Amino acid sequence: MTELRLLTAGESHGKNLVAILEGIPANLKISLEEIVLQLQRRRIGKGRGSRMHIERDMIEVVSGVRHGRTTGNPIGIIIGNAEWEKWKEIMSPFADACNNEEAILYPRPGHADLAGICKYNQTDIRNISERASARETAARVAAGALCRIFLKEFSIEIVSHIISIGNVSIGDRSVTFQQARAIKAFSPLRCVDQKVKAKMVKIITASAKKGDTLGGVFEIIVKGVSPGLGSHIQWDLRLDGALAGAIMALHGIKGVEIGRGFESARLQGSQVHDAIYYNKKRGYYRGTNNSGGIEGGMSNGEEIRIRVAMKPIPTVRHSLPSVNIATGKKGTATFQRSDVCAVNPASVIGEHIAAIILTQFFLRKFGGDSMQETKYNYNGYLKQYQYQP
Ligand SMILES: Cc1cc2nc3c(=O)[nH]c(=O)nc-3n(C[C@H](O)[C@H](O)[C@H](O)COP(=O)(O)O)c2cc1C
Repeated sequence: MTELRLLTAGESHGKNLVAILEGIPANLKISLEEIVLQLQRRRIGKGRGSRMHIERDMIEVVSGVRHGRTTGNPIGIIIGNAEWEKWKEIMSPFADACNNEEAILYPRPGHADLAGICKYNQTDIRNISERASARETAARVAAGALCRIFLKEFSIEIVSHIISIGNVSIGDRSVTFQQARAIKAFSPLRCVDQKVKAKMVKIITASAKKGDTLGGVFEIIVKGVSPGLGSHIQWDLRLDGALAGAIMALHGIKGVEIGRGFESARLQGSQVHDAIYYNKKRGYYRGTNNSGGIEGGMSNGEEIRIRVAMKPIPTVRHSLPSVNIATGKKGTATFQRSDVCAVNPASVIGEHIAAIILTQFFLRKFGGDSMQETKYNYNGYLKQYQYQP
């Protein structure tokens, strides 16, 4: 069987986004509704821009699934752009389109624009910004939704919730998996505390009025992962490294912590490390979960907890100073319609990125070309480790 891998293609205003997900075993029951639901969740959020009202995700599964079940072939997914008619000339792949659009010449601070035009030797920033846009994450969510369906077969579930927006926070209280799961699928702000949530809504509205933007922190919680995904034996096999890397690779993310993360660096060892217990009914367990469910690069059977910091959206209405890339003259960054705060969709996308990495690590450990084979291998492993002491 092949290693799980995902490639995405497509530009923000291009005709389609494309995802190819290879390595999902055959005979997994797939529901299109589940993928559509997750794509809808990705579009929602207090502070999202007007494009989100226009955007509908027109999704098509074009390969790798037949009569509702995976075949083991690469799964191809296409997500159409509802506004393509408007963009078809500007984004035409070929030179014969009649396109009078002027080049975008003022790179936006905080974006890929400037480094991108230098690196790819471009004279129109659109050739960078279209692909650098977070619209690409719709393809990752679609593939991640398939991975979630796979993980659910093994009782692995992923939820998320928002800890802070700007300087409004629920503080350092711990939110349970159940509390996070109880948040409504289409909540515009996935915060468990209604009073804090109201304050978050308020500062996003105030920021929008001022023409400014906000970031925040969210947490992803994964339940049901057995001990032993990932490995201590090689740096690139470590589960924490892969999860942190993949989540850091989401647009706008500037910090990832596993468990108590940065806070643990301020404490004594005896306050941080999770004591080990055992009884016949539960097997091994911990009294605390400061490690966030990963030790030595391996899942340890506790909930995996990942905290993620997102910077404020870089496109601000009172545009920041920039330079014309054709003339070198001073100016202000190009302003396009933009989100004010995207922490809510980022938390949903984060869930799906975690799903992709966990599926990859799960299949690395248990393999299987069909779901039956994967389940057989998994159940054998469960028996083996439960009888250890
Ligand atoms: C769901 C989501 C929506 C975003 N929406 C916008 C937006 O409307 N305008 C914007 O300037 N940046 C937006 N961003 C952030 C940028 O995509 C990101 O900051 C930029 O691509 C630079 O990447 P970096 O911040 O990872 O360095 C969004 C990010 C995410 C995850």
